[in-house]
Amino acid sequence: MSAAPEARLPDALVAPGEEEFDRSLRPRTLAEFVGQAQVKEQLGIFLEAARRRGEPCEHVLLAGPPGLGKTSLAGIIAAEMGSTMRVMSGPAVDRKADMAAILTALEPQDVLFIDEIHRLNRAIEELLYPAMEDGCIDIVIGQGPGAHSLRLELKPFTLVGATTRTGLLTTPLRDRFGITHRLDYYAPDEIEHIVHRSARLLAVHVDDRGCTEIARRSRGTPRVANRILRRVRDFAQVRHSGDITHAVAMEALGLFEVDGAGLERIDRAILEAIAARFSGGPVGLSTLAVAIGEEPDTIEDVYEPYLLQLGLLQRTPRGRVVTPAGYAHLGLPAPDRDPRLF
Ligand SMILES: Nc1ncnc2c1ncn2[C@@H]1O[C@H](COP(=O)(O)OP(=O)(O)OP(=O)(O)O)[C@@H](O)[C@H]1O
Ligand SMILES: [Mg+2]
Repeated sequence: MSAAPEARLPDALVAPGEEEFDRSLRPRTLAEFVGQAQVKEQLGIFLEAARRRGEPCEHVLLAGPPGLGKTSLAGIIAAEMGSTMRVMSGPAVDRKADMAAILTALEPQDVLFIDEIHRLNRAIEELLYPAMEDGCIDIVIGQGPGAHSLRLELKPFTLVGATTRTGLLTTPLRDRFGITHRLDYYAPDEIEHIVHRSARLLAVHVDDRGCTEIARRSRGTPRVANRILRRVRDFAQVRHSGDITHAVAMEALGLFEVDGAGLERIDRAILEAIAARFSGGPVGLSTLAVAIGEEPDTIEDVYEPYLLQLGLLQRTPRGRVVTPAGYAHLGLPAPDRDPRLF
């Protein structure tokens, strides 16, 4: 079998070694989960209702950019239901037999978490349709004329799917989720709250202004906030007394090349490449990827959403374009061009 139910690919943004750290800061209950008030309130109701009926929660689809809490929420759903979470990654399972083995091994009320569900292969996805809808799967035993189909009943379970790209999900799969939540970038005060919480868990002292500064540069993303906090903690420990003040945070963030808008070197490289090498765009994603030596998928999933959100970059039918705000951010004059391009 290519993947046990627990098998999981490392998170795209987390380097090995950071994952342990990431887990220790993961919120474990809905109450600990900061922000996303609407998602929390709605999910709280669905979970409570399912608990009272003694049934598993409906299948849940969680969509949104990396690091906003999809995996954390899946764990919370399992914890709040008092059940066990089985984790698998969409692209890691490529044989129907493996998927069938995972599904038939589920215990009643288990949460099956499928990360990157948009990357499941089609045959496996089709196996999920009856599993999600009717709680059974049909498998074919044998080959040739003697082959016959066997229906296996599954124990009642909740599928939680996570995707950074809802657009890539097929309609039949999307339609089988009773609950869909889209996670958005967090508000500055929510990120501050998360930085305070993480600092407490890491037993590091951060003053209010230091916390605000870290939050401001964290792209509205809890994972980035935690990562920056950890880097600044290292800096404070080695260069200073260990406490994170505003001045220490400013100095560290300067050293780590995280600018005032939270852009890091690679984000600026993307904007600079389009501005300098492609006259501001439009430039196609694959050309851009080659120019900066990154995978197209990584640019699209990880870097681009935040640049788009800040209005520094724009997607047009002909490719990516740096906006006047993007030029301003780079400290470059915006070229004279057809305003329809922006
Ligand atoms: N609402 C939150 N409150 C507190 N911490 C959070 C919250 N959301 C996320 N985090 C922190 O951010 C980290 C990343 O979250 P998580 O792994 O759940 O994101 P994700 O959406 O699954 O990302 P990916 O798409 O890369 O898998 C968690 O380990 C946790 O420490
Ligand atoms: Mg995740």
